Amino acid sequence: MRTALEQHPGRIALSSSLSIEDQVLTDILVRLDPAARIFTLDTGRLFPETYTLIDRTNKHYGIRIEVFFPEREAVEKMVNGQGINLFYDSLPQRKECCRVRKIEPLRRAFAGLDAWICGLRREQSVTRTEVLPVERDEANGLVKINPLFDWTEQEVWDYIHTHNVPYNTLHDEGFPSIGCQPCTRAVAPGADPRSGRWWWESPEHKECGLHRR
Ligand code: ADX
Ligand code: SF4
Repeated sequence: MRTALEQHPGRIALSSSLSIEDQVLTDILVRLDPAARIFTLDTGRLFPETYTLIDRTNKHYGIRIEVFFPEREAVEKMVNGQGINLFYDSLPQRKECCRVRKIEPLRRAFAGLDAWICGLRREQSVTRTEVLPVERDEANGLVKINPLFDWTEQEVWDYIHTHNVPYNTLHDEGFPSIGCQPCTRAVAPGADPRSGRWWWESPEHKECGLHRR
């Protein structure tokens, strides 16, 4: 991450979903550069606990995570045309919701950036086994940096506990991976950590479009 900051001064940002991985990256980034950019995409459908964590994280580190919202008109058109919970109706509708609520705001977050830092790990899913530490994000014309690409979940938790990093209280209630509230549910102990995300879909579909693989 130090090298990445040196190579892209002022043109790099951490894209944070407030996951345990992103909280580790936030901790490292703030130590390296307290003024580094960190942004999150507020889909409007996050868990209350996630909003609380945004605030706790800001206060803990003395930072202000930038928040990007979806375009009001696009959300209104989608919801009024297809229903408030359209994502349960079909895969194309789920992807449309992710496009409106995450992908379009992400494009705006990218303005002025050469590189983005993400919390992807190979271990996370069948769609992420090939993640590299530095990738060319062709779709967005950016360098994509995945510093935790080869970390295990245990290593992430060890870092969190060692450095007293704030984390989402839902992790203590059976939620290993947390996205939007209607598309995330708790899983049984020992179950695939991402099995609670878009649980009604098959594993190869479980990407929101943020990370094309
Ligand atoms: S997702 O595609 O299934 O939602 P996941 O929750 O595993 O992704 O997060 C992977 C990485 O994508 C995170 O570490 C973060 O870099 C980025 N990311 C995911 N959701 C968001 C969000 N709401 N805001 C900003 N970055 C996000
Ligand atoms: Fe919509 Fe669910 Fe995607 Fe969130 S995860 S943007 S609620 S489909």
